[in-house]
Amino acid sequence: MSLEQNLNKILIIDFGSQFTQLIARRVRELGVFSEIVSHKKIKLKDINSSIKGVILSGGPLNVYQINKYSFDKKILQFDLPVLGICFGHQILSKLNGGRVKQSKHREFGLANVFKKNNSLLTSNFFGNKKSKQVWMSHADQVSKLPKNFKVIASSTNSKFAIVENKIKKYYGVQFHPEVTHTENGKKLISNFIFLICKIKKNWSSKDQKNQLIKDVRKQVGNNKVICALSGGVDSSVVAQLLNKAIGKKLYCIFVNTGLLRKNEEVQVVQTFKKRLKINLIYVNAEKEFLKKLKNVSDPEKKRKIIGNLFIKIFERYAKKIKNVKFLAQGTLYPDLIESKSVTGSQTSKIKSHHNVGGLPKKMNLKLVEPLKFLFKDEVRKLGIELNLSKEIVSRHPFPGPGLAIRIPGIITNEKIKILKEADYYFIQTLKNNGLYHKIWQAYAALLPVKTVGVMGDNRTYEYLCLLRAITSEDGMTADYYEFKKSFMQSISNKIVNSIRGINRVVYDVTSKPPSTIELE
Ligand code: XMP
Repeated sequence: MSLEQNLNKILIIDFGSQFTQLIARRVRELGVFSEIVSHKKIKLKDINSSIKGVILSGGPLNVYQINKYSFDKKILQFDLPVLGICFGHQILSKLNGGRVKQSKHREFGLANVFKKNNSLLTSNFFGNKKSKQVWMSHADQVSKLPKNFKVIASSTNSKFAIVENKIKKYYGVQFHPEVTHTENGKKLISNFIFLICKIKKNWSSKDQKNQLIKDVRKQVGNNKVICALSGGVDSSVVAQLLNKAIGKKLYCIFVNTGLLRKNEEVQVVQTFKKRLKINLIYVNAEKEFLKKLKNVSDPEKKRKIIGNLFIKIFERYAKKIKNVKFLAQGTLYPDLIESKSVTGSQTSKIKSHHNVGGLPKKMNLKLVEPLKFLFKDEVRKLGIELNLSKEIVSRHPFPGPGLAIRIPGIITNEKIKILKEADYYFIQTLKNNGLYHKIWQAYAALLPVKTVGVMGDNRTYEYLCLLRAITSEDGMTADYYEFKKSFMQSISNKIVNSIRGINRVVYDVTSKPPSTIELE
């Protein structure tokens, strides 16, 4: 049995809400395993005894379109508590004989809900107040409650803002308890899972670690496993988990592309080979990468060259290890969730991402993906539980193609050297000023432009260094981080004074969209 099968859980049926992952996170933060499944994919046979409650997410649909989306309503006829959120609340009412119609006033943003009756769901939610501030986002609303449903709270525009059918243990909320703007929203979710579903806590980093180690041992048996280690959070956690599970049967391959951050290759070898005693094959391929990238300036070409060469080198070394049956990858839960396509929308390709994860199909290896049910913050906690240092688990993300996509235009050895230094100064200064962990990702880039400067009595003609620091939830959208003037002055001085080759520093103040986080 694997992690996801043998744990009691809350099943979240996704109707395409942008907040579905947030619901799953809230449940997990409360110490209970939760799993998301698309309403299009869920089948009656999937409902088993490990499911202790169901949450229906919000979504962009209209309840009258639901047949078009083929949701099997028999799923709600199991004797399981159900919490409907926003659209989920409307569909729950509709399927039980209530009515839903377009609201006179659409409600988006903050609203107050006023207590009308007591309910287990709202136990300690209102405290000693009569109302609470919640976050709404809907154009339709329940206009008539089904039989045996009772109003628990109303807002000015939604009479049925919180409802319950105590006999069936059906609950509905028109607002979003999972977003932080809803005051005390987590309490509602906590009441649902602990007081109504009566599920016990089963989800901590320690539980996960022990279970995942067992799962990996069972899956792999006596066979050998290879793993592409990049030094980033996900592959580091996978490597250490497998190290604990199967020890010397694990072989990690670490390719130094020459496009890593300053001293990164030394740190990776120190940590994994020397400290954690992992079988680590270190491949210095700096020259090979630089040769292939010579005179290439097109961003997509760079990405393809790096991705393909990486796979070639990885395969070359993997073949040297005999009888390997498995390839370990750091796939995370958000990569797996199919809900992204629930609404049928496909995003256009902006960049071809190269990740050390997506390797290598033709080797015919079975996959070991121990993190595939975890979110990034859970992976970080697991890393700590596995004895990885905070420095490794809380690192900013770093792209597979590395510094190549932070040097727009042609890449040379000299430019890489200059950029490594600038990036190092920037990151160190963030750390020294207690800013590193307030920022989701930060880096320096070297622009293919030289400008004139004056240092001492001499004219300089050197490169332009761009600094980028952003805040984000998941890298899909981002905003620039607002530094104090004194910080910007000091980092600019430090870079220009210490690094020959840079005489001007600029700060990128664009958000994503319209820009992307990386330059290429
Ligand atoms: P963009 O530039 O697309 O970046 O806004 C979003 C996030 O993805 C990272 N990134 C990559 N990660 N391989 C990776 O593993 C890649 O090819 C790649 N390109 C961008 C980027 O650093 C940011 O965190």
